[in-house]
Amino acid sequence: MSKAAAPNNTSSQLQENRVFKPAKEFAGRAHIKSMAHYKKLWTESVTKPDKFWSAHAKAELVWQKPFKKVLQWKEPFAKWFIGGQLNVSANCLDRWLGTAYANKAALIWEGEPATDGKPGEERVLTYSQLHREVCRFANVLKRNGVGRGDRVILYLPMVPEAAISMLACTRIGAVHSVVFGGFSAQSVADRIQDSGAKMVITADGGYRRGAVVPLKKNVDDALKLQDAEGKSLTSTIEKVIVLRRTWNEVHMAEGRDVFWHRELDYVDDKCPPAKMDSEAPLFILYTSGSTGKPKGILHSTAGYLLGAKMTSKYVFDLRDEDVYWCTADVGWVTGHSYIVYGPLANGATAVMYEGAPNWPEPDRFWRIIEKYRVTILYTAPTAIRAFMKWGEEWPKKHDLSSLRLLGSVGEPINPEAWMWYHRVIGGGRCPIVDTWWQTETGSIMISPLPGATPTKPGTATLPFFGIHPEVVDDQGKAVPKNTGGKLVVRKPWPSMLRGIWGDPARFKETYWTEVKHSYFTGDGCRQDKDGYFWIVGRIDDVLNVAGHRIGTAEVEGALVSHPSVAEAAVVGRPDELKGQALVCFVTLKTGVHATPELKNELRNHVGKEIGPVAKPDDVRFADALPKTRSGKIMRRLLKQVAAGVEIKGDTTTLEDLSVLAKLTSAEEG
Ligand code: PRX
Repeated sequence: MSKAAAPNNTSSQLQENRVFKPAKEFAGRAHIKSMAHYKKLWTESVTKPDKFWSAHAKAELVWQKPFKKVLQWKEPFAKWFIGGQLNVSANCLDRWLGTAYANKAALIWEGEPATDGKPGEERVLTYSQLHREVCRFANVLKRNGVGRGDRVILYLPMVPEAAISMLACTRIGAVHSVVFGGFSAQSVADRIQDSGAKMVITADGGYRRGAVVPLKKNVDDALKLQDAEGKSLTSTIEKVIVLRRTWNEVHMAEGRDVFWHRELDYVDDKCPPAKMDSEAPLFILYTSGSTGKPKGILHSTAGYLLGAKMTSKYVFDLRDEDVYWCTADVGWVTGHSYIVYGPLANGATAVMYEGAPNWPEPDRFWRIIEKYRVTILYTAPTAIRAFMKWGEEWPKKHDLSSLRLLGSVGEPINPEAWMWYHRVIGGGRCPIVDTWWQTETGSIMISPLPGATPTKPGTATLPFFGIHPEVVDDQGKAVPKNTGGKLVVRKPWPSMLRGIWGDPARFKETYWTEVKHSYFTGDGCRQDKDGYFWIVGRIDDVLNVAGHRIGTAEVEGALVSHPSVAEAAVVGRPDELKGQALVCFVTLKTGVHATPELKNELRNHVGKEIGPVAKPDDVRFADALPKTRSGKIMRRLLKQVAAGVEIKGDTTTLEDLSVLAKLTSAEEG
């Protein structure tokens, strides 16, 4: 584990003195109206967590059976709201039936525009319509043999059916695992194998920048994959449900594959919500770690839903009249918590968009905001930086005056991007909530509250209720203000991960051993004089490329699986747009020649093994990799080589100094 990086962002230090007070309109109307109010509630939430969470769990969620005990904590295993029973889909849908929300838009969906210039399709589903679709599809799941506790893989485009399938799983107590459409057949197979899933729900294709992503074809390929001994990776799969989206031709395996629309003919729309224990597994979401294959992060029912619901309400200050748009894909945790579960549990109207931000033109987002009068926009710094590059003229073409709040997530937002977002998109009037959290945390952990927290460009500011983060040194001791260290969370919180699917030892090892009695986030951080948290970024071997989390070990594994590669080391290089770019150093097997073609082949190979999201930005060939005398690859040096900066620091443990000379002078390719 590398040491916590010292914050070196001079521009962020300059911004520290720029304070943006909450706008009057917010301070008057927001759920939390002042800093004093926030501080009082936060203090109560961490000093008397049982009382705080008990009151909020009762007030926010609809229970089929009340819970008896708030928390049972046997480090690192937490159980929240013990004895309680509830259903997530009932909390998102049924609770609004028979109220004024029943005919309110739950989801507004906009499809990708057609290549011939026609606008994207649109669909609006009210709460009662969404309820009906979820009940019908839940009956389809049952009819196809899925029941309580069964795992179901979702590999779908950004269409309402993605949300419908997630909610249908929760209705019958099945555990969904959504796989982002940018992952490969191999990644789908790995996730099926690890989760032991019974079913895959996919589509004939999805649209992306005018092209069709062949999702069903990838599933067919995944279902053929075998391990080294020739054993199928996916033998647990019994059924594949295929949604018609693009209507391109797909192969349907008799007895295994069925079409979504045909199945609906066999079911009715009555499906009572299953009574689920508070701690019943809700979903598994795979995410990259610093070692090995991605881990299946497991979330459970009541705690997760409470976290998603409360943070949506307070951080986005949701109001009945809001049109809220989170631009993430449901394949990531942001899409789970802040497109589907959080907004729907609050009776909000959420926009869902299928396509890319610059297809067919770079004003796609601004068009959508103008068209639906979006009031809250939640997006990623990498997108904001791309918009900056494309120019102000694109947002300026549109009326963005409906916006009242902006959000940022996924990576540190550089102050320049923050200021641009504030000025150009927010018209100088919209507060920005920079929200820090992770797949593992389930919901937002550190963020301003728009009516209470003065913001500064580049910091996620202060913890949410019940969250007790600290910045610590290598011994686990809190460091003084303005000192870099590791970000940990000292106390359990309701939406925290319950484990890594099938691997309790790895769960303990990854999160609970680095710093004693604390959850280790893997992020470096410092607190300023006001106690604001400034996240520096990952300090483990995980990269954040365009807001996507990619494990270097996983990419290295993919590279060495290529017959030409002897050894590989992967590091991040600062990138203006993506935050970090993926640079791979590769040594080749004897007799293999380094050619530009091979470089391309290796990039594509990684794309095939993991998915287009992990395609390296740069592959560099080397005669040898710099290693310590004990044989460890010196990543610190490689990072400097990748960034093209002068090599600094101690190189005395380097086994062969000539390696370094070769690397720094090496021609690419
Ligand atoms: O390094 C932090 C960064 O993203 C990581 C979590 O990635 P993932 O599990 O994919 O979840 C992304 C969406 C929640 C964190 O460890 N990160 C996320 N949000 C921020 C951030 N870094 C700085 N500021 C943020 N607001």
